[in-house]
Amino acid sequence: MKRHLNLTVNSEPRQILVEPYYSLLDMLRDELHLTGTKKGCDEGDCGACTVLLNGVPVTSCLVLAHSAHDAEVTTVEGLATREGLHPVQQAFAEYGGLQCGFCTPGLIMSAVGLLEKNFDPTEEEVRYAIGGNLCRCTGYTKVVQAIMAAAEQARP
Ligand code: FES
Ligand code: FES
Repeated sequence: MKRHLNLTVNSEPRQILVEPYYSLLDMLRDELHLTGTKKGCDEGDCGACTVLLNGVPVTSCLVLAHSAHDAEVTTVEGLATREGLHPVQQAFAEYGGLQCGFCTPGLIMSAVGLLEKNFDPTEEEVRYAIGGNLCRCTGYTKVVQAIMAAAEQARP
């Protein structure tokens, strides 16, 4: 039986009726139509479904939607503002950090999660932060360059 869920998604309060077995990923995509978050493996291996849950990157296919009750969720749709792209999105575009783009929302959310707590990451820390995000196209070099560039830009 569906149950009520209250949460904040991309700074907007949402109330939604969801089956108790729904994953956060399925709720975002199927109920809220936020399809920027991708469904790859649906079993925690690829990172394509990464979103921020209370500021922490999580693989949303492994999180029950009801675990997000009263929580704050940020998806890739919540990053850009009227002023433009988020610095991480901008850097991915400038540094060629994407090719087919399927992994890109997840990679960007992992990077944003890192930079929100560490403005000055080493390359090793960047690689560790995106260690759960699989990309079949880029070879990661340009992804890492993009995240390092975004970090440099974000530093006070
Ligand atoms: S879809 Fe969640 S980790 Fe692959
Ligand atoms: S850009 Fe294609 S999987 Fe990463």
